[in-house]
Amino acid sequence: MRPSFFHHLHPPTIPARQARLRYTLAAGGLAIFLSLILLVTGLLEMFYYIPTPEKASASIQTLTFLVPYGGLVRNLHYWSAQFLVIVTLVHLLRVILTGAYAPPRRLNYLLGMGLLVLAILLDFTGYVLRWDEGIRWALVTGTNLVKSIPLIGNAFYRLLVGGAQPGPATFIRFYGWHIFGLTLAAGILVAWHIFRVRRDGGIAVPPPPLREDQRRITRFELVRREVLAMLLSATALLLLSSFVPAPLAAPITASATASQAARAPWFFLWIQQMLKLGNPFFWGVVVPLAVLVLLSLIPYIFPKPAKPELGRWFPKSNRLAQVVALLILLSMLALTLLALRTTS
Ligand code: HEM
Repeated sequence: MRPSFFHHLHPPTIPARQARLRYTLAAGGLAIFLSLILLVTGLLEMFYYIPTPEKASASIQTLTFLVPYGGLVRNLHYWSAQFLVIVTLVHLLRVILTGAYAPPRRLNYLLGMGLLVLAILLDFTGYVLRWDEGIRWALVTGTNLVKSIPLIGNAFYRLLVGGAQPGPATFIRFYGWHIFGLTLAAGILVAWHIFRVRRDGGIAVPPPPLREDQRRITRFELVRREVLAMLLSATALLLLSSFVPAPLAAPITASATASQAARAPWFFLWIQQMLKLGNPFFWGVVVPLAVLVLLSLIPYIFPKPAKPELGRWFPKSNRLAQVVALLILLSMLALTLLALRTTS
């Protein structure tokens, strides 16, 4: 039989362990599903969204309140984007806490880190496209952080914002990045990432002679589980999007200047909280970049997880990586909660 494209994605049988929900948490698959929902709902939103600073916010109101099912489409887009960031973080944590980044999966780990950064940038640029009072922190404080970088800060700021301060040029740049640049890059990286999962031998489990559990499941069983997971998550997402609307504030009226009440989007609240400690370059640029670099280097600088320990949670052989990752994520969570308390 000539192998089809589907055959490449799903071989006739796979080790049962590779498809165990309590091992993978289905987080990678869910991230793909959410990305597809984002693509479809984003394309639908483009029929009504008017990409100019004067009309953007009003066009979102039209879409939400006047277009049949427009509000639902917008809410689905919004909630899928938030969950994509959460699910990607959960997936990252499961990869670290199971030691699944060990060779030959180091390259795929880096591709995954690229995807995490893209998911956050897509969420950030999409949030700015609301162009309402709620986005002031992102527009003013967020972009100003770039200026604090020594030597190249001002040039980089002009490149990002399109002028000496945020305005129509900023808007069109963020729009271009959101609907084209970042989306295209994410599409390419997702395809590469999935290709690498197959190339690296599927989900990490011990090699056959070291495997305690020799059971295998068929591709039909795998597809059945995937469809079930998609139906359940689609139902949850539809329910949430039907009852909890995406945020929308009044259109930006005065020129965009910093405001006391401005709050960062939730995934940058930990940075907003750190900025209270002083030097914006150190706390707003150096520390977040150091966190990103440290997480990316985990497969390269920490002891390699042992092969017989693959396919299970908390292997003894990679304890150090587990502790470092948990400390980083717990600190980010604590800073986020602190920021929520002080800015609410
Ligand atoms: C939009 C973001 C992402 C998507 C769509 C995605 C998708 C997937 C899928 C479908 C799998 C196979 C199933 C599974 O393990 O759950 C997978 C595995 C993997 N992913 Fe991701 N991923 C993303 C982000 C990340 C991140 C942030 C990392 C870590 C830096 C990462 C590293 C890996 C690794 C190393 C594997 C192989 C795991 C193993 O063999 O056990 N991915 N990814």
